[in-house]
Amino acid sequence: MSARARESFARSFGEVPEACARAPGRVNLIGEHTDYNDGFVLPIAIDLDCVCACGPGRGTVHLASADVGAAYEAPPGEALRAETWRTAGAPRWASYAAGALACAAREAPALESMLRTRGIRLAVASDVPLGGGLSSSAALEVSVALAACALAGEAPADIARACQRAEHEFAGTPCGLMDQFVSVHARAGHALLLDCATGAFEHVPMPPGWSVMVLDTGVRHELAGGEYARRRASCERAARALGAPSLRHARERDLGAPGLAPQDRDRARHVIREIERARTGAGALARGDARVFGALMVQSHASLRDDYEVSCPELNIAVEVLLDVPGVVGARMTGGGFGGAAIGLVRTDDAPSAAPSAAEAYARRTGRDGKVRVVRASGGASAETAPAGCA
Ligand code: GLA
Repeated sequence: MSARARESFARSFGEVPEACARAPGRVNLIGEHTDYNDGFVLPIAIDLDCVCACGPGRGTVHLASADVGAAYEAPPGEALRAETWRTAGAPRWASYAAGALACAAREAPALESMLRTRGIRLAVASDVPLGGGLSSSAALEVSVALAACALAGEAPADIARACQRAEHEFAGTPCGLMDQFVSVHARAGHALLLDCATGAFEHVPMPPGWSVMVLDTGVRHELAGGEYARRRASCERAARALGAPSLRHARERDLGAPGLAPQDRDRARHVIREIERARTGAGALARGDARVFGALMVQSHASLRDDYEVSCPELNIAVEVLLDVPGVVGARMTGGGFGGAAIGLVRTDDAPSAAPSAAEAYARRTGRDGKVRVVRASGGASAETAPAGCA
């Protein structure tokens, strides 16, 4: 577990933490903007994570962040109420942590009573770049919810859904389930195919000899900024116009329906095709067919750029740059869009030379610093407790 979170806890509270948890960020390989349409997604958890160290409180909810170097303290009645976080100027990082505590507590009676009577003290430290499209917020929420439950001696039923609710109610982002789900349920060396309609999932082995490269565009997105919610509303309108409970149940051949506005039709076309690509992609990945998978990634990006309109010039350049590098067979934006990161599927032998040449080409074309990492498909979140502090 991260020394930074433990040190931050010790510095902030003068004690050792009694429970710790780590939760990873993610990249989505394919199946973008499909989760809130009851579709399929195929993300991997990555080897960057958030760690939360915690101990019993002194009657307040006291949150410290090693990353932003700030703290927040309030009585539980205030800290754990969603309204508190709707006021202008409320610290965003703390809203994720408070939301995760409040929403996990609804399903975990021992945590609920601990928070109400004693409160909690916790410190978080993350190496998932904030706002970089790698789900830094889900990693934060899941690590906090897990650590707090471990401290209270309780295993709540569904950490992923509790954390998704935190994002809706406390951070005001109407996200789907993908980010929190993969952070909890990922398996090392595997992608996770999640059917968002049923919650059923399977682990799909990553093809040997292939790696995932992530190019951070340096453009920071803000999903609560409205575009994400507008896309979601557009999909719901389209489903209604098509008489379908969600776009999962809509067919491309029905998109000529007269009641469907042209823009909603484009959004729906993306979703319907992307759900199919995620399904086909999982099969290709499982067979080790990187070339087919790479071609699907390229189609996915074009559809997100043209039909769903969630890309941006820097993401389009990042994808072009990645596709130009020897050894790369596919590339696309990943996550919500409007900035954040692009990913490329690259032959592992070529990755050491591909990463710097992609970074250099991106910097040359955009004038921005493009950080490129090769990530490993990693395991999901885990917690530990120890009477004398976390290891
Ligand atoms: C964000 C949301 C996810 C998902 C993606 C787009 O990451 O948090 O739920 O909708 O955007 O696929």
